[in-house]
Amino acid sequence: MSSAERTARILGWRILPLFVAGALIPLAATGSRHGLASVIDVTPVATTAAARPPMGWNDWYQDRCAVTESEILKNARELVSTGLAADGYDTVVIDDCWMAATRSTTGALLPDAATFPDGIPYVAKAVHRLGLKLGIYASAGTATCAGRPGSYGHYTQDAETFESWGVDFVKLDLCHLPSSANTATLFNQFGTALSAANRGIVYSQELPVRAARSPGSPTFTALVAASSATSNMWRIAPDEEATIAAGISITQRLEADLPLYSYASAGHWNDLDMLLAGNNIFGYSLSAQENQADVWAMESSPMIASGNLTSAASLTVLGNKKVIAIDQEGVQGRLVGTQGSIDVIAKPGSVLLVNTSSVPAAVRYKTPGQLTNVWGDGRAASTTGGYLYRTLPGYGVLMFTVR
Ligand code: GAL
Repeated sequence: MSSAERTARILGWRILPLFVAGALIPLAATGSRHGLASVIDVTPVATTAAARPPMGWNDWYQDRCAVTESEILKNARELVSTGLAADGYDTVVIDDCWMAATRSTTGALLPDAATFPDGIPYVAKAVHRLGLKLGIYASAGTATCAGRPGSYGHYTQDAETFESWGVDFVKLDLCHLPSSANTATLFNQFGTALSAANRGIVYSQELPVRAARSPGSPTFTALVAASSATSNMWRIAPDEEATIAAGISITQRLEADLPLYSYASAGHWNDLDMLLAGNNIFGYSLSAQENQADVWAMESSPMIASGNLTSAASLTVLGNKKVIAIDQEGVQGRLVGTQGSIDVIAKPGSVLLVNTSSVPAAVRYKTPGQLTNVWGDGRAASTTGGYLYRTLPGYGVLMFTVR
């Protein structure tokens, strides 16, 4: 972030630099739709991790509490055998339910002996031998969301345990916080313990995401501001729900994230949650899986998949190198124009057109250069007189590289 942007952020202004010269009319530079709140005081946590948005796989949307050691190791091997690890998907995250129901006599977290019989250090070593990193889940409260032991009262002990086990990435949830607790303070305390144990561990936080249902709400934005100083990535969106259609979920996440662009920078990322490519429980269509990857990439969200890695869709969607490159460029896209229900979001070298309504919408977009669709045959998009004419279906998404 430039010093001008940081100053603007602190003063609560919204600034809107125009990356792509030929954007659509009119520019939506007013703050009412995406206003920012001021930053609150936190102690920045020293971290050397996540210079680019983390990439990998997490079991949660596939396995929930049925996660096992063998399932984690199978997916780690599949990241390598599919070539996705070489594309950058290098972190395997064990989500909730890996812990035994009680701590040890010295208060340490223990793995569930039935599902992780060889223990986490064994899993970490096996994952490291594959050239990958291991992530693990914990909760800042007295219990995890699934009711396993929480880390409250044990932050230093748990951070040291994770470090001693060889864990490279910690996802901290916020279920079962004491009612008087201040979320940002506790997250900061855990981060301080984690960076004291090992500054290289990636620290992922889960914000009270229900608040994110009101994009730009000052309470939520203040938490994002705190997280951007204390962690490497922070969840800004609620869990996926099977009852919410793919297009609605994807566009709602985008709308919630657009006002938060100034908090993203190298080592600090707004997290839109997991990619559902190859997930047969949610059953997104192929185009919805592509749309989701487009939005995550334009927003430089971490790309953590939670599906069957060997499915054809996983290979096509997760393995799209143009999309990965846009994500890993590490600059969050910004809203540069709106026309009816169409949002235009851009960053250097790429542009995303999104229909935020269920009703199909025609768009005329003045192109800033040669557009190439990131999906399909990879040929240049046809334009007329310097304009791209397209009709986007309800919740349709189009992403192009721009030269
Ligand atoms: C939720 C979180 C999910 C998953 C789950 C585990 O709060 O959003 O990603 O971690 O807890 O119980």
